[in-house]
Amino acid sequence: MVILAIESSCDETSVAVVRMDGKTREILSDKIASQIEVHARYGGVVPEIASRAHTEAISPLTCSALEEAHMTMDDIDAVAVTATPGLIGALLVGVNFAKGLAFAYGKPLIPVNHVKGHVAAAYFEHPGLEAPFFALIASGGHTSLTYVKTPTEFIPVGRTRDDAVGEAFDKVGRVLGLSYPGGAEMDRLASLGDPDAIKFAPAVIRDTLDFSFSGLKSAVINYANTMKMKGLGIVREDVAASFTKCVVSSVTGALDKAHKEYGYKTLVVAGGVAANSHLRGAVKDFCAERGIEACIPSRSLCGDNAAMIGAQGYYEYLAGNLADSALNARATAGKAAF
Ligand code: KG4
Ligand code: ZN
Repeated sequence: MVILAIESSCDETSVAVVRMDGKTREILSDKIASQIEVHARYGGVVPEIASRAHTEAISPLTCSALEEAHMTMDDIDAVAVTATPGLIGALLVGVNFAKGLAFAYGKPLIPVNHVKGHVAAAYFEHPGLEAPFFALIASGGHTSLTYVKTPTEFIPVGRTRDDAVGEAFDKVGRVLGLSYPGGAEMDRLASLGDPDAIKFAPAVIRDTLDFSFSGLKSAVINYANTMKMKGLGIVREDVAASFTKCVVSSVTGALDKAHKEYGYKTLVVAGGVAANSHLRGAVKDFCAERGIEACIPSRSLCGDNAAMIGAQGYYEYLAGNLADSALNARATAGKAAF
């Protein structure tokens, strides 16, 4: 089936056309209009500006996604849209647009959870990937270790108790003077520094599979302030490398604990932070040592995009999870985030 998918949960408007059928998992188009430059000058996403920018971008982006796929709305079998979690005003733009399209063209409407969508990005490049599997989900708003029992049933076994890992990358990046969002630049800086220069305590909560990235973030900020008070400078590359090493070892430590407990054979790594080169390398090594199949999407599919929403939308459709014209957006998806 051919799905037109819409994503507008944060600072990227995206519209995609995907073909999903049994073994076919194909991206026909995946257009993204990023707002990063608009928000960077404020040091973070400004919700009202995001909603307005989505409103401007969504119609032309839909036309160009259809054009690139060489299709019209007549070729589309269903419309999928991110309905939760995210910035409420931003989500509402996509949800209302999707409702309008589905209603006008008489197509089924599929509401999709954004975080599940991140995981579904892995289906495109791993044609054999089938639930059940484990997923490490690391984004700007969500961090968890999750058992994906069926394509639509997600059971978190560990999660952050405070900041998401991407949020920690961005906040540490800000302390180092990087512009928002600092994650990608932190990745580059970390490659130039000494990961053993500064020792930070692991961001894991003992005897659980949970994380606390807020504590690690505060430790980095304290380090930077202490050095400043002593009149000493900091080596940004070393801070980035030491922080990254701590994040990566905390995550692989939790993956190891979870592997001993659950013995998973396939691991999907998803979300914006899955683009991090240090994390990708460490997870690949971790999996290779234990004979686990690692499914990590290409970097371009790790960040927010609508193709992943289309992929998850397909499985939601198969499970009968459709919406009617009363569909609403929700800023939070509930305690477990699914
Ligand atoms: O998944 P995503 O695009 O949006 C959310 O759903 O939150 O994730 C965005 C997050 C940001 O915090 C960004 O700084 C981080 O992913 N990020 C990275 C890298 N690329 C993006 N963090 C570390 N290393 C990267 N290479
Ligand atoms: Zn995301």
